[in-house]
Amino acid sequence: MTSAASPPNGHVLLAVSGGIAAYKVPELVRQLGRAGHEVRCILTEAATRFVSPMVLQTLTGAPARSELFDAGEEGEISHIELADWADVVLVAPATADLLARMAGGLAGDLVSTVLLATRAPVLVAPAMNVNMWRHPATQRNLERLRERGVQVEGPEAGELACGWEGEGRMSDPTALAGRVGLMLGGHGWRGVGVLVTAGGTREPIDAVRAVTNRSSGKMGFAIAAEAARRGAEVVLVAGPCSLETPPGVRRVDVETALEMEAAVHESFESCHVAVMSAAVADFRPATPSERKIKKEDLAPGAGLRLELVPNPDILAGISARRGDRVVVGFAAESHDVIEAAKRKLARKACDLLVANDISRSDAGFDTDTNAVFLVSPGGQVEELPLLSKAEVAARLLDRIEKLRGVVR
Ligand code: C5P
Repeated sequence: MTSAASPPNGHVLLAVSGGIAAYKVPELVRQLGRAGHEVRCILTEAATRFVSPMVLQTLTGAPARSELFDAGEEGEISHIELADWADVVLVAPATADLLARMAGGLAGDLVSTVLLATRAPVLVAPAMNVNMWRHPATQRNLERLRERGVQVEGPEAGELACGWEGEGRMSDPTALAGRVGLMLGGHGWRGVGVLVTAGGTREPIDAVRAVTNRSSGKMGFAIAAEAARRGAEVVLVAGPCSLETPPGVRRVDVETALEMEAAVHESFESCHVAVMSAAVADFRPATPSERKIKKEDLAPGAGLRLELVPNPDILAGISARRGDRVVVGFAAESHDVIEAAKRKLARKACDLLVANDISRSDAGFDTDTNAVFLVSPGGQVEELPLLSKAEVAARLLDRIEKLRGVVR
């Protein structure tokens, strides 16, 4: 539906499938209502056994339907109208069965029909037994849904109603309502795939030693957090670091440049924007030892000769096959910052380069602030003042919006 017909905080269609987590749905409805959203509920047949449509009807003030073919009450709106009415569809809880039906494009009941008919962004909150969650069939279905721009929140790990421990608990209503708010408040980022790399890579010398690059990962994590806040579907490929995963972000942890390259290639096809902020080690030991190299094994007083081989340039690799994606690179320079950044931009053929002056103590590594230049292929340079990394992330995403042709 066009936003012109929507109330200020939007129409949320809540689709409920049949899992024990449905007991949280009345609280979820209350929270969505409190955030000013107009909510309507639809249920699968199984869901009606876990939560009463009457309760949902009372809380929302609108019929909570489960039948595709209703008796045709006066004033009842059709499933297609419901699909069009929604500004966001939230599926909570999303059972393994419903995820499979969504992935397969089935439309055998009211909920699956509405999900197939809607053009609104969809957020699913999976909830199920941990083994069902980990099953390759479920994971593959989820992957297919993600590729189509469906967003996923949770599940969380913990004690499950079935008696098992592990991932499978539906995210709590506050997190889900928050995510819906972000999706409705986004500036053209809904359904946009954003791939971010962050942190340094660690290249093993032996079982305990490694060659690495200095990087806290803070800048990349801030970009991932801001993109998720705007409603994008974010994959964060992170080198070793102890930062918390921002809400709504899918994180893939890697150690080495080769692992980072593989993870980037895996998510690159389905992304629209790639921001490579990781400090990738340019070289790795040619033949890492699986065992710890003992000092006693070396001749007395002798050093250890390490042969280093170059790592692939991940950024240059994806730039070369980016199609209409926006690709952003980073550069950490200690002198001649702008000239070096312009050369790097040309060499890596990206759409924008964010240059850091690492000689400053208030910018670059491990600080919470950053002062950067945004360098464009045409040679234009925009200098940003000293800002928090969160603000730098917001300014960078504003710039990417313009590059994508999204007018704010
Ligand atoms: O060449 P340099 O390391 O200075 O380039 C920095 C930019 O290139 C960053 O965006 C970094 O993430 C990316 N890069 C990469 N793969 C490498 C080296 C750098 O993606 N092997």
